[in-house]
Amino acid sequence: MTVEQIRVSSEWLDLREPADAVARSRDLVEQLRPQLPPAGRLVIHDLACGSGSMGRWLAPLLPGPQHWIMHDRDEDLLEVAAANPPGPAADGAAVLVETRPSDITALRPDDLARASLITASALLDLPTGDELAGLVDVCAAVGCPVLLTLSVVGRVELAPADPLDAHLAAAFDAHQRRMTAGGHLLGPDAVAAAAERFSRLGADVLVRPSPWQLGAADADLAAEWFTGWVGAACEQKAELTDQVDAYVRRRLAQAEAWQLAVTVDHADLLVLP
Ligand SMILES: C[S@@+](CC[C@H](N)C(=O)[O-])C[C@H]1O[C@@H](n2cnc3c(N)ncnc32)[C@H](O)[C@@H]1O
Repeated sequence: MTVEQIRVSSEWLDLREPADAVARSRDLVEQLRPQLPPAGRLVIHDLACGSGSMGRWLAPLLPGPQHWIMHDRDEDLLEVAAANPPGPAADGAAVLVETRPSDITALRPDDLARASLITASALLDLPTGDELAGLVDVCAAVGCPVLLTLSVVGRVELAPADPLDAHLAAAFDAHQRRMTAGGHLLGPDAVAAAAERFSRLGADVLVRPSPWQLGAADADLAAEWFTGWVGAACEQKAELTDQVDAYVRRRLAQAEAWQLAVTVDHADLLVLP
């Protein structure tokens, strides 16, 4: 496995779960439903499930009995996912959850055999180009629909605007595309790369926007996201560090006073074999 081992905290995943649920494309779920087997139990593999938020969002939107197999390399997050399973299916059918410690960059098609659906959320910007290509090939070989939600696309807007925003955004994107021991991360280029590879393998790929639009009600999430965004930008471009102190104080005060609006663009992909 070569994906950089940065641990994601369950507190961060908790904080973002409501905004993620609002942002994910319901239209793609409408497109997905008729592509699923009409009878029998759906077998759904959720890759890099974290604390299980994708299942809690999607399972109640799909009809019929479901068996979710949740993969993550972080066993603490898998425990949280197992302890907070999704509610019942759209028609009240049972939803069973199984957790599986996995490195999703080392999966083979056999590991996902008999899948009715493969899902992932907030994952695509993490692997290197080679790892993403391998993952796409494995999913395509399984031959079922694939729903990949909430991939960052490198567009961020803060209101009110500030001259430093663009510099930080550029440095953040460069950080997302940085070189790691395993190779170049794709960051905001991952959506286009995955869509292009799935298409080349003969699948239809539908893309929908799934932005976070954070306002007063999401002040805690906006402040936490903002702190991480600035931190990554300064890690990438150290010379920004001296310029950001007053900016950070100003922005966090705006968030606390419910005067900061943040849009973080994402894209959702539905891949139909
Ligand atoms: C940003 S979180 C998203 C979690 C969840 N899908 C959600 O939407 O809340 C990314 C997740 O990917 C997992 N992850 C990253 N690289 C992985 C790998 N190579 N194998 C398995 N899990 C991985 C992390 O442990 C983390 O849970």
